[in-house]
Parts: sequence; structure tokens; C-alpha cells
Amino acid sequence: MPENNAIQPRTMLENNLEMFDQMLEFKKLLLRYSSAMKMICTRLQILDEDYAIMYERNPIHSIKSRLKTTASIIEKLHRKKLPISIESISENLHDVAGIRIICSYLDDVYEISRAIQKQKDIKLKSIKDYISFPKENGYRSLHLIVSIPVNLLSDVYDVDVEIQIRTIAMDFWASLEHTLKYKKQIKNMDEIMERLQYCAESISELDIAMMTIRNSIELDDSPSDVKSQLIEKLKKLEKEFN
Ligand code: GTP
Ligand code: MG
Repeated sequence: MPENNAIQPRTMLENNLEMFDQMLEFKKLLLRYSSAMKMICTRLQILDEDYAIMYERNPIHSIKSRLKTTASIIEKLHRKKLPISIESISENLHDVAGIRIICSYLDDVYEISRAIQKQKDIKLKSIKDYISFPKENGYRSLHLIVSIPVNLLSDVYDVDVEIQIRTIAMDFWASLEHTLKYKKQIKNMDEIMERLQYCAESISELDIAMMTIRNSIELDDSPSDVKSQLIEKLKKLEKEFN
């Protein structure tokens, strides 16, 4: 026992152990997010198949998912002047796990949103409807933050997932607009932004027109008697799963 009460310097081993411990905790945290993301993606695929059987259509055109990179997690916490720790990530960041659902038609966006919210163990934490209330630049999309329970060996965790739902046309627009964020030297930025706003309006009109045409086609296409309806349905399903 040292005679004076001076604080002893930590040994290298102690420092290393602490670092490994934190790395392990971080890995466990990422596992929670990737598991939540996989679970929701699988449920979406199941929903799409269910719609095919029930209503002979696939509301989901495609699904993209991504896990925020470590650099981007740290950058966001730093930018928002938040502590950089495991607790801070799970409390403050709601988009570590992100899923983007692309639908062909506008009404499918809301249909899928309702179907997600109906799932028993999924909790809706917030919703931003940038379709009914587009952003000033013209951005349109439906954003949900949900949480889903993830069962791991140590415990059950409620994990946040950001879900963006939009049409193919909205996605096309957002991809182009997103490239602007990385271009600092554009001379005619104002003009480009104005043109993008104009495109966003046209896209919105196009989405409504396409949905209306699809609805008319579906109404006109229903065979008269029940037997023919069932045969048609079976034919379509077999095509779907073959
Ligand atoms: P972040 O801090 O970026 O996560 O934004 P937020 O917490 O204010 O949430 P919001 O729901 O507004 O945006 C979340 C995500 O939606 C962004 O990370 C983008 O992927 C997308 N997004 C939001 N606004 C725009 C936009 O104007 N253009 C494009 N291309 N994407 C956007
Ligand atoms: Mg984000």
C-alpha cells in the first residue's frame, strides 16, 4: 500500500481492458440495430406477399436498408453537442437503423404505413408526413420512427428504426436533390433549386394521375361472376410465386 494518497496511474492493461469492454458494448449495440432492421425488412416482405394473396397486388416496389456508419454516428452526436456514449446513441439517435420503402403508387405509401403500425409489437414513436406537408425544397416522403423488441441473450431491447416510405417518383427526385448536398461549387444553385421545386410539383401531380389510372384499370378489370374471379386470382398468384 503506498504511503501517500496520490492517485496511482492506470496500468496499460487496465486501459486496454476498458477499451475492449467499450468496443464489445458498441458491437452489441450495433447487433441490436441490425437485428431490428432485419426483422422489419422480413415483416415487410411478408406483408407484400400477404397483399398479393389478399388483394392481387404488390404495394412494395423495393426496400433498401442501411446501418449508420460509426463515423456518421459520432459526427451526428458531435454536431448536436450530445455525449458520445452507448446510452447517448440509443437515447438520442433514432436513425441508426434506417429502412426506405419504395412504393409504385401514392396510396400504397399510406397503406404500408398503416400496416406497419398495426403490427402488435411495433410502437410508433413519431411520424412526419412530408407528403401532405412537403419541405420547402419540395422533398416528399412519409417518415416513421418505430421501435421493435429485439430478443438477445442478455435481454429484450426496444430498438428504434427510421422508416421512410415514398413513391418511385419521390425517390427519383430525392436521389437527385441529395447529390446537391455534396456539391459546394455550383454557381447557379438558386436556379437549380427552383427547377427542382418545379419537378417536385410535377412529380406530385404525376403520382396522383398514375394512381387514378391504376384505380380505373382495376375497377374495369373485375370479371363478372365469382367463379371466374377466383380462377383469375389463382392464375395471378401462380404467376407470382413461380
Ligand atoms: P436528420 O438529422 O438528417 O436525421 O434529420 P431529422 O432528424 O430532422 O429528420 P427528418 O425526418 O427531417 O430527415 C431524416 C432523413 O430524411 C434524412 O436523413 C434524409 O435521408 C431524408 N431527408 C430529409 N429531408 C430531406 C431533403 O430535403 N432531401 C433529401 N434528399 N432527403 C431528405
Ligand atoms: Mg438521418
